[in-house]
Amino acid sequence: MYQQLNSILVLLFISLFFIISSSTDTITLTSPVKDGDVLVSSGENFALGFFSPRNSSNRYVGIWYNKVSEQTIVWVANRDQPITNSSGILSIDETGNLVLHEQDRRFGFWSTNISVAVTNDAFSAQLLDTGNLVIFKGQNKAVYSWQSFDYPTNTLLPGMKFGVDKKTGLNRIVTSWKSSVNPGVGDYLYKMEFVGSTQLFLYKGMTKVWRTGSWTGHGWSGVQAMTQNYIFNVSYINNNDEVYVVYLIRNSSIFSRLMVNESGNVERLTWHEASHGWIGFWSAPNERCDGYNYCGPFGICDPYKSGNFECECFPGYEPQSAPDWYLRDGSKGCKIKNETQICKDGEGFVELAHAKVPDTSTASVNMSLDLKACEQFCLKNCTCMGYAIADISNGGRGCITWYGDMIDTRTFSDGGQSLYIRVDATELANSLSNKPKSSHKNLYMVIGMPMIAVGILSCFFFFCCIRKKKGNRLKQKVGYNFATSSKSLEGSFMNNDIGENVDLNAFDMSTIVVATDNFSLLSKLGEGGFGSVYKGKLQNGQEIAVKRLSQSSGQGMQEFTNEVTLIAKLQHRNLVRLLGYCFHKDEKMLVYEYLPNKGLDSFIFDQEKGSLLDWKKRFQIIRGIVRGLLYLHQDSRLRIIHRDLKASNVLLDANLNPKISDFGMARIFGADQDQAITRRVVGTYGYMSPEYAMEGLFSVKSDVYSFGILVLEIISGRKNNSYYLENSVNLIGHVWDLWKQDKALTVVDSALGNSFDAREIILCIHVGILCVQESATDRPTMTEVAFMLNNRDTKLPSPNQPAFIFRQLNYGKDSTSTSLSGGVGSVYNETITHVHAR
Ligand SMILES: *[C@@H]1O[C@H](CO)[C@@H](O)[C@H](O)[C@H]1NC(C)=O
Ligand SMILES: *[C@@H]1O[C@H](CO)[C@@H](O)[C@H](O)[C@H]1NC(C)=O
Ligand SMILES: *[C@@H]1O[C@H](CO)[C@@H](O)[C@H](O)[C@H]1NC(C)=O
Ligand SMILES: *[C@@H]1O[C@H](CO)[C@@H](O)[C@H](O)[C@H]1NC(C)=O
Ligand SMILES: *[C@@H]1O[C@H](CO)[C@@H](O)[C@H](O)[C@H]1NC(C)=O
Ligand SMILES: *[C@@H]1O[C@H](CO)[C@@H](O)[C@H](O)[C@H]1NC(C)=O
Ligand SMILES: *[C@@H]1O[C@H](CO)[C@@H](O)[C@H](O)[C@H]1NC(C)=O
Ligand SMILES: *[C@@H]1O[C@H](CO)[C@@H](O)[C@H](O)[C@H]1NC(C)=O
Ligand SMILES: *[C@@H]1O[C@H](CO)[C@@H](O)[C@H](O)[C@H]1NC(C)=O
Repeated sequence: MYQQLNSILVLLFISLFFIISSSTDTITLTSPVKDGDVLVSSGENFALGFFSPRNSSNRYVGIWYNKVSEQTIVWVANRDQPITNSSGILSIDETGNLVLHEQDRRFGFWSTNISVAVTNDAFSAQLLDTGNLVIFKGQNKAVYSWQSFDYPTNTLLPGMKFGVDKKTGLNRIVTSWKSSVNPGVGDYLYKMEFVGSTQLFLYKGMTKVWRTGSWTGHGWSGVQAMTQNYIFNVSYINNNDEVYVVYLIRNSSIFSRLMVNESGNVERLTWHEASHGWIGFWSAPNERCDGYNYCGPFGICDPYKSGNFECECFPGYEPQSAPDWYLRDGSKGCKIKNETQICKDGEGFVELAHAKVPDTSTASVNMSLDLKACEQFCLKNCTCMGYAIADISNGGRGCITWYGDMIDTRTFSDGGQSLYIRVDATELANSLSNKPKSSHKNLYMVIGMPMIAVGILSCFFFFCCIRKKKGNRLKQKVGYNFATSSKSLEGSFMNNDIGENVDLNAFDMSTIVVATDNFSLLSKLGEGGFGSVYKGKLQNGQEIAVKRLSQSSGQGMQEFTNEVTLIAKLQHRNLVRLLGYCFHKDEKMLVYEYLPNKGLDSFIFDQEKGSLLDWKKRFQIIRGIVRGLLYLHQDSRLRIIHRDLKASNVLLDANLNPKISDFGMARIFGADQDQAITRRVVGTYGYMSPEYAMEGLFSVKSDVYSFGILVLEIISGRKNNSYYLENSVNLIGHVWDLWKQDKALTVVDSALGNSFDAREIILCIHVGILCVQESATDRPTMTEVAFMLNNRDTKLPSPNQPAFIFRQLNYGKDSTSTSLSGGVGSVYNETITHVHAR
């Protein structure tokens, strides 16, 4: 008897609980949402209810993150119809529509707009854990008659389809708020268009402000895509029913959103719990070259061009209006130089590499042509002005051809795709004769002559002036503390070439201007994370490399010289030497020794030059980098975290010894903590540790991660970012696959031939994999790395699966759906330099 009663009570309790719990994320005919009520989704990720923006008493119905402490609205129902008091109610009516109305009257502020043939009293709406508010079509919980994901406000959440439903004509458009206190429909809108090819546009009112470029198969042509499958899984789907992109976050405990903000930027933000803030991850537009049609028709915007004007004309073209052009207004664009030669014999194409291809509004696409056929196709038709490959993944297929104005073309230092421009015979001959015009390929050719004392003396005068101002600071002797380095680091690892006394020059502007020929294009060596690098020659003949810091570091003269002085004290034979600096008005420059060889990247990623580095040399380089990093992390008094270690930041001297460059920049830009959180991520995707990329969390272990990538790149001669066809997502994935099958040696660069010590290589691969472990604590310190490399017989821990390996990829399986990342808001192999003084 009792037992029966008990079980009845339990049943009652369970069903009561079920009713309560099921009602917390559901709106039914009998349970509307009143002002003050909050619906919470089943996994507690999102909440729905009434809210007021800051400084406002208006009430809106919105969806926000439930677990994020700063209220972050991702969707608003009654954007332009605020409720002025707390009498609002959101309910579902007998026609299956959601209605927002007042307590007594049926005056509606907002409603969904579904026409349903049959009425049914079982309608319900539910807030899903993805942040999607859905209305079920009757009892069937699999079919939605309406969903908030189809009507985005200013935010794109993971899982939302961004694009067009071809059958219903529904275009999901993202629009900014009016202001941070008014969620009404604002000026900026972001949407997909598919004239010619599929592109995303950011509009201000009716004016195009920014364009992503067309979908290339890997990502958007004009969005520096990060390596595929890095953090997001982005799919681009184009079939008879719909065309859209959708991105998913691989780790569901990370909150990431893409929004169009009130100041007209598309930005991706990631929630960082420890600092209780949203971290800027990527944004656009962010430079003049991003501005739509900045250089007019047939103009190219090149942000790395010297001088202040980024525009230049297509090869074979000249400015439409020379006076405007020289006044630095490129908007009228360019015209063809010799009209008489159009469609004459001998025409051909000039390649513009690393381009964001022009707006495809004037283009047509034929997916069945390949590159060769595309060229012929364009050449045959006299109105065709140029062509490009539509899908550059899997070897390339499809053909975009332009007829008429080609607008909004820009170049990048890396990434992008090739654009082929039709030119006449004369121009074609010109382009062949001055072929090595591809200026952006050679990043950093800073290089080295060993330090020359004469140069330092010649500038002694300036030095003295500074010295007076700064009192004793520069006289300070530098004492290095080796006590911390492990005892096992014998021999070469201890052998630091340390300058005891630092002589730092304060160069004046006129010296630098003369040395670099007024920062002429010819003297430009390349473009780095923090500014352009120029080669210069002092009057005494010493060659220098001048780094012109592009961003304001937010530091004054005193702070800047203090930091530079500290960094100049970091002297080691595996670090590029800082000779001095120049501070002139807003302009800040660093003067380095010049190294005659280029960066390591120009060797290892180059088939020909790769063979100059045999395994013995490569192993020496790896060990040199270890010494340099060890010194930065441990042995110098400053404990520097590099934060942007990569192949192009390792320069080779005349004897091919590695020297790390660009260290200490974080200090100059005012972020010098040991382990800290940064709100703006600085670094290069592909080398960035997961915790740094996702959360801005950096420590010596983020450098260890970058070092691991570098080691694997040195061994394989391939970039971590390069695309793999072998079913692996990137180099790490590829190496890991081979490692598990005991076939790691197959990754070795073919440029090495057979002359290598297999044991050494296996050791380096093992260390490399340990360095790229997902969890920072699983990665060794540089001290341990040095030990491992020096004591080959040590038993190394066996590695776990490294970071960012996602294997469920099936390329080419479905030709209309390529699954990869990048896409909506991402960055490629480009150093990101949004550094803000805080
Ligand atoms: C909110 O109101 C305060 C005081 O009136 C004002 O200082 C602040 O700028 C307002 N904030 C916004 C975002 O409008
Ligand atoms: C709320 O405001 C409306 C006018 O917008 C008014 O008709 C209604 O009576 C008010 N309700 C309450 C409870 O104050
Ligand atoms: C509702 O749909 C009808 C027909 O599709 C359309 O004419 C009307 O403008 C829509 N109303 C709203 C508020 O969207
Ligand atoms: C997801 O991210 C959280 C927090 O950043 C982390 O603790 C967790 O290990 C990650 N999970 C996976 C599967 O990567
Ligand atoms: C919009 O985004 C840009 C880029 O992230 C940022 O600099 C700006 O402050 C943002 N504006 C607002 C109003 O949040
Ligand atoms: C155009 O090309 C033709 C043939 O090469 C040449 O004779 C003519 O001078 C050129 N005209 C201009 C304006 O360059
Ligand atoms: C694409 O090119 C192929 C081969 O030249 C041709 O047969 C086909 O008709 C073209 N398709 C379109 C839509 O132009
Ligand atoms: C050249 O291309 C344009 C645009 O596609 C087309 O209208 C025209 O007929 C083509 N001309 C020839 C000769 O094929
Ligand atoms: C990527 O997303 C698609 C759906 O958009 C899914 O089918 C696929 O399994 C995902 N891939 C991975 C590796 O998560």
